[in-house]
Amino acid sequence: MKVVVTGASGLLGREAALAALRRGHQVMAIGGTTAPRIPGAERTLTIDLRDAAPITGFMLEEFPDAVINCAALPTVDGCERDPASAQSLNAGLPARLAELCFHVGAKLVHVSTDMVFDGEAAPYGHTASPAPLSLYGRTKAEGEVRALKAGREHAAVVRTTLINGNSPDGTRGLHERLIRGLMKGGVTGLHTDEIRQPVGLTNLADVLVELCERRQLSGVYHWAGAEAISRHEIGLRICRHFGLDTTLISPTESSRSASATPRPRDLGLSLVPLAGKLRTPVQTFAEQLSELRVPRGCEQWYEERTGRKVVRRLEKGLDY
Ligand SMILES: NC(=O)c1ccc[n+]([C@@H]2O[C@H](COP(=O)([O-])OP(=O)(O)OC[C@H]3O[C@@H](n4cnc5c(N)ncnc54)[C@H](OP(=O)(O)O)[C@@H]3O)[C@@H](O)[C@H]2O)c1
Repeated sequence: MKVVVTGASGLLGREAALAALRRGHQVMAIGGTTAPRIPGAERTLTIDLRDAAPITGFMLEEFPDAVINCAALPTVDGCERDPASAQSLNAGLPARLAELCFHVGAKLVHVSTDMVFDGEAAPYGHTASPAPLSLYGRTKAEGEVRALKAGREHAAVVRTTLINGNSPDGTRGLHERLIRGLMKGGVTGLHTDEIRQPVGLTNLADVLVELCERRQLSGVYHWAGAEAISRHEIGLRICRHFGLDTTLISPTESSRSASATPRPRDLGLSLVPLAGKLRTPVQTFAEQLSELRVPRGCEQWYEERTGRKVVRRLEKGLDY
């Protein structure tokens, strides 16, 4: 299959492009401002996906079999700072890609988020009604509806959650943000009353590609890891895995913090029916931890802190 991956310079998009290559597909990788680094990709390019014309021209030139949409403005703060881009990328782009996929007969796999929910009715089934608390959640919820309306049986939406994995620059993964925070600030406070169900990066990437391969699966699905745990527990388990002192993580409560945007309390997801329809298995948190590496730039701090040596390996033609 010819698979187009948007957001291929980002955390999830790059891994989705690598997974598509690993599974024998031809890959066209699109970044926004940074050209994706995907060894083996047929084409790598940058397109500003807020504009309709360039992506329309690209799709009509390439006529792909599938599109995996990982391009987004994917943070609560980023959306508050730039609402116009949030609307265009999180809501307008999925609609445009779905129209184009419907037109050329391609499958669209669009990535959405658990942040479309308010956190008061977990575990959320795939038919639960969104009730977003933030602009990020609202624009992503609108993107889901518009993608499905325009793409019809050609479109699948995958709601997912905190991504646990190694990012291209060592700053985007869950453990990377935590370890960098520890390196800067000593003790880090993490909420005991915020429940999330982290997902492994390579596992999620496989799911996105498998959904391209399984053309008959359309509609909204949920994908996450096997366990719903608090952010505090996530931090403790990451510290234990890396041999870091767990007293560096202190328990805090979200309900007592003075955040401008309210945070969903419990975003546990039910993985029915997708977990029963795919070959890709659901990963436990321990399985996710086994794939993590010390982030680039943190090696010296880490070695001094733990007495463990960091050894870098070449993987998939890339030096992580
Ligand atoms: N990360 C998580 O924990 C998480 C959790 C739940 C759901 N998700 C969802 O997963 C998806 C991927 O998130 P991610 O964490 O991989 O995000 P990311 O690392 O920030 O990547 C975002 C991608 O979007 C691209 N992009 C941004 N603006 C663009 C523009 N104007 N034109 C074209 N491309 C543009 C970026 O390209 P450049 O950097 O080259 O500009 C980058 O490749 C999103 O839909 C997000 O909502 C993520």
